[in-house]
Amino acid sequence: MTGYIVISGAGSGIGRSIAQTLAERGYSLILLGRNLENLESTKNLLKNPSQHQCQPCDIRNSGEIHQALANVSSLYGLIANAGIGGENQYGDQDRWQEIIDTNLTGTYQTIQECLPLIKKNPAPFKKIIIISSGAGKRGRARFAAYCSSKFALIGFTQSIAQELAEHRINVNAICPGLVDTERTDFIAAALAPEGQSAEEHRVLMIRERSQTVPLGRVAQGDDIARTAAFLASGESDYLTGLSISVAGGSEMN
Ligand SMILES: NC(=O)c1ccc[n+]([C@@H]2O[C@H](COP(=O)([O-])OP(=O)(O)OC[C@H]3O[C@@H](n4cnc5c(N)ncnc54)[C@H](OP(=O)(O)O)[C@@H]3O)[C@@H](O)[C@H]2O)c1
Repeated sequence: MTGYIVISGAGSGIGRSIAQTLAERGYSLILLGRNLENLESTKNLLKNPSQHQCQPCDIRNSGEIHQALANVSSLYGLIANAGIGGENQYGDQDRWQEIIDTNLTGTYQTIQECLPLIKKNPAPFKKIIIISSGAGKRGRARFAAYCSSKFALIGFTQSIAQELAEHRINVNAICPGLVDTERTDFIAAALAPEGQSAEEHRVLMIRERSQTVPLGRVAQGDDIARTAAFLASGESDYLTGLSISVAGGSEMN
């Protein structure tokens, strides 16, 4: 294989699924996230665990990302997946800055810190994959910060895809619809009405959302991981600047 791929937010959810799929396909991985224990749990699930590294860092701090990559001489690619979700509301408790700092500025910094190492890699094409969201294509009441960050990532994808084409670095975004991950459990626990357990509410939520998806179900992490694996492979060398909806037909732009 052609060198390491960095995955940010690899300690859970979609990042963990992507790590499992890419390791299965023979890539060596550098797993980023704040919680080392979670990164180690992901690493232990991977094929050939000793081939992969865990590097804890907070992507809101460019120095920490730089330090995490200090011993790496070149990279084949990056999956910029780390992000936070949830609502925000103007006022004292506004989460606007936290969401923008993580999802947008954090992704920007992760890419900028990886870029010099990606440029050094001798592979004919190198890969940057950004995890945006269906919320990057359609606004949603009460999710202004999240939607703004994810829309912005699509603009960013298109800009750097043009900038980096001369270096033969493909840059594409994936826009998942609802994915059934640990985060869904968390949302269900927060939204469950009185008299309904978090698990009961999760099942209802997933059933309701599945009915709105033309292909009849919400995504699993693996659906996103297989798209990421395609975009990381030589099969996608002629694709750049795209934002691909992986949403069972819920989003067709
Ligand atoms: N689940 C969905 O339905 C869905 C749909 C569309 C898009 N997405 C996007 O997919 C990505 C992954 O989401 P997920 O559902 O897998 O959620 P998740 O399980 O909460 O994963 C997010 C990961 O990002 C890491 N992270 C958060 N803040 C960070 C920071 N400041 N520095 C470094 N790492 C950080 C977290 O690890 P630590 O807390 O240990 O740092 C966590 O492992 C996100 O960008 C999300 O917006 C998710």
